[in-house]
Amino acid sequence: MTDKLIIFDTTLRDGEQSPGASMTKEEKLRIARQLEKLGVDVIEAGFAAASPGDADAIHSIAQVIERSTVCSLARASEKDVRVAGEAIKPAKHGRIHTFIATSPIHMEKKLRMSPDEVVERAVAAVKLALEYTDDVEFSAEDAVRSEMDFLVRVFDAVIQAGAKTLNVPDTVGYSIPLLWGERMKQLIERVPNSNKVIWSTHCHNDLGMASANSLAAVMNGARQVECTINGLGERAGNASLEEVVMAVKTRRDVFTCDTRIDTTQIVATSKLVSSITGYPVQPNKAIVGANAFAHESGIHQDGVLKHRETYEIMRAEDVGWGANKLTLGKLSGRNAFRSRLQELGIVLKNEDALNAAFVRFKDLADRKSEIFDEDIQALVSDDGVAQVSDHFRLVAIGAHSETGKLPVARVILSVGGKEQQSDSQGGGPVDATFKAIEQIVQSGTELLLYSVNNITSGTDAQGEVTVRLSKGGRVVNGQGADTDIVVASAKAYLNALNKLDAGVDRAHPQV
Ligand code: KIV
Ligand code: ZN
Repeated sequence: MTDKLIIFDTTLRDGEQSPGASMTKEEKLRIARQLEKLGVDVIEAGFAAASPGDADAIHSIAQVIERSTVCSLARASEKDVRVAGEAIKPAKHGRIHTFIATSPIHMEKKLRMSPDEVVERAVAAVKLALEYTDDVEFSAEDAVRSEMDFLVRVFDAVIQAGAKTLNVPDTVGYSIPLLWGERMKQLIERVPNSNKVIWSTHCHNDLGMASANSLAAVMNGARQVECTINGLGERAGNASLEEVVMAVKTRRDVFTCDTRIDTTQIVATSKLVSSITGYPVQPNKAIVGANAFAHESGIHQDGVLKHRETYEIMRAEDVGWGANKLTLGKLSGRNAFRSRLQELGIVLKNEDALNAAFVRFKDLADRKSEIFDEDIQALVSDDGVAQVSDHFRLVAIGAHSETGKLPVARVILSVGGKEQQSDSQGGGPVDATFKAIEQIVQSGTELLLYSVNNITSGTDAQGEVTVRLSKGGRVVNGQGADTDIVVASAKAYLNALNKLDAGVDRAHPQV
């Protein structure tokens, strides 16, 4: 008998706690739609009480997602639970995930509460959450450093209060697989009525063992894993969804459970999250790294050619590598473009946004012979879907670099509808371009990150640029894509400035 393993994705909540990974509502919606397509059971869409923007994003996600449960995090306080309850209200399946710390260090130093008060708060939060939904999850924050007897007491109390899922987090990434598996086993053995609830695990990666610890918990009875795409998350991140899902699928001989994830959507989801958050995926990252299925040594190549399974335990196509379909070309019309957007789950704001995206598609098709799904995703992500304002718009750009001479750039921008031009020198053409833009806009921002990734292969591929800017404690990511990386860089810079202009950043949820 194979049990169901519930995949609870927290990319939009814990993942967003990665420094600088804040997302706009539209970006969160795009990721949520892709997570639903991937087949995740629960989408933790945010932490409603963190900011009105977060609550609004959860509310919007709850309106459009049908097959996955939409969840909001809430501290064990009346205000948090009520705000979370309102945010998930439109959801077909909605969950409130309430938590309170249970370790001596957190109770004494952070909460300044006695163990009795903590139990009381946990029970009250669960009971209140039940007024909004019958799907209530409770987490004992810092369970890894909590005393076992106290954990048993808290979990017993919240089961009696009506919680359906009990989450055991390794908040600080301190455990190792053997101990984490043992902790899950003991809890299930000792907590009364433990068979009436789903046991869940939530592991951080500070010692690089988040996925291994999660799997150890699964081997000892956990039937929900909380994880993120690309292992994004607070500090060193969370257990990575792709690693957990593929371990369970690949080692059916070991695990007695399975997920309902459509694994062929893994790579597309990873790329989308990476491009929106500006967190590149390291080439040797398991499953989703560019080299994860590349064989370099001659002996390995020879083996794989003779019999694939000599060196491959998974098939690249099963996780979505090589699935980038050649979809459209120079001669494709507007209707073909529109229906491909629909198949990709991309919803543009209105007909004008579609028209603008179609013009960019035609322009790209003139410069690039083959257009893949990734190109289309990028085409709409640097405008159309993600752009929130076009106060700053690129009208024209010229950049020149020559051996022995300082690179120069000329930029013409439309600022609030009025065209302005500037010329600048720089260390390279991108530096010159950013300086020319700054001469016009005088934003006073600090550049925190500049990264370029090629979207598909080949020298005619589009470069996708992420620029992270900060100003007065606000941090935003801007994206831009183009076959010319200087143009892509200028678009990304302006996208970030437009986000700052529209005020779409958000405070760090823990602040
Ligand atoms: O790491 C953690 O403990 C958390 C909880 C809120 C589940 O993210
Ligand atoms: Zn966490």
